[in-house]
Amino acid sequence: MEDDRAYPVETHPDQSHPDQTHPVQSHPELTHPAGEQGGRAGRLEACRRAYADQIAEQAGIDPGSEIAAALAAIPRERFVGPPPWNLRPPSGYLQTAANDPVVLYQDVVVPLGRGWGLNNGQPSLHAMCLAALAPQKGEHALHVGAGTGYYTTILAMLVGETGRVDAYEIEPELAERARANLKEFAQAAVHCRSGAEGPLPDCDVLYVSAAAAEPLAVWLDALRPEGRLLFPLAAEGGSGEMLLVTRKTDGTYAARLLISVQFVRCAGAQDEQAGRALNAAFWRGGGSKVRWLHRNDQPDESCWCAGRGWWLGTESGAGDQGSGRR
Ligand SMILES: C[S@@+](CC[C@H](N)C(=O)[O-])C[C@H]1O[C@@H](n2cnc3c(N)ncnc32)[C@H](O)[C@@H]1O
Repeated sequence: MEDDRAYPVETHPDQSHPDQTHPVQSHPELTHPAGEQGGRAGRLEACRRAYADQIAEQAGIDPGSEIAAALAAIPRERFVGPPPWNLRPPSGYLQTAANDPVVLYQDVVVPLGRGWGLNNGQPSLHAMCLAALAPQKGEHALHVGAGTGYYTTILAMLVGETGRVDAYEIEPELAERARANLKEFAQAAVHCRSGAEGPLPDCDVLYVSAAAAEPLAVWLDALRPEGRLLFPLAAEGGSGEMLLVTRKTDGTYAARLLISVQFVRCAGAQDEQAGRALNAAFWRGGGSKVRWLHRNDQPDESCWCAGRGWWLGTESGAGDQGSGRR
């Protein structure tokens, strides 16, 4: 059962990546999709603008940011299943009475289609995550678990035409829908394969939208200096927290747990032993003190959680410099 909601307990996104304030390039095809004429299109646009303001408020980001502008521009109805929609407010599902897409412009999880068991995630959670990743114009972003491409589209708008997005989705039908939804963005490519396996291109931003029990070596290796990785660190079926990892120029990795989440599993990133160690660490608490990811098997007393070849700790360790394997 897909559950992609956020349960915010720690709301301290990395302030070192402030929101961008430049307007995103407009995409007339997105704001005036075929079939939406006159008043209906205008009404939906007004709804999207109100939605973007609401999500920015919820996510604690600037309503004038590029992320908010992207939320106001992208028709969410293209990315979810057909109506009637089962909106997912904080508990249970609520089937919409009407087939009017205005209902999609709320901070709710929406199934990607009936039967998939996969959802278009909670907008305020993803807005906060994208703000923490702070993709810049011209950067290369990877998106693992693209679904039908709603948040991939925001990534494509944020990196702009001079940037590049490579998105990975293992479900062929979803990958096909993502490809169709992203056809106006020459800078984006959708790959129907696992993003938990190499080869992956070198990148500045790596956003994972499915739960992993550990930071995969293939993700850490793909990060350029100052590259940012953000993924739901969680054992299969459990709740966890979004882990932001920044590869420093000296080869060390700064790390921070940002917010509590539940996601479906990332195929190929759910080692059972790592999952058990992770659940025990979350149970003990203290994750908010994590500051560093180390790539070795010698955890010191500052260790919060350790797996094979990595551990998360509160202190930078001796001998970390240059531990990045590239
Ligand atoms: C929670 S859904 C998110 C979809 C999308 N981000 C959204 O919010 O609309 C997670 C997606 O990750 C995909 N997925 C899981 N493991 C994957 C992997 N190893 N590589 C690529 N995609 C994966 C699933 O098929 C699913 O579509």
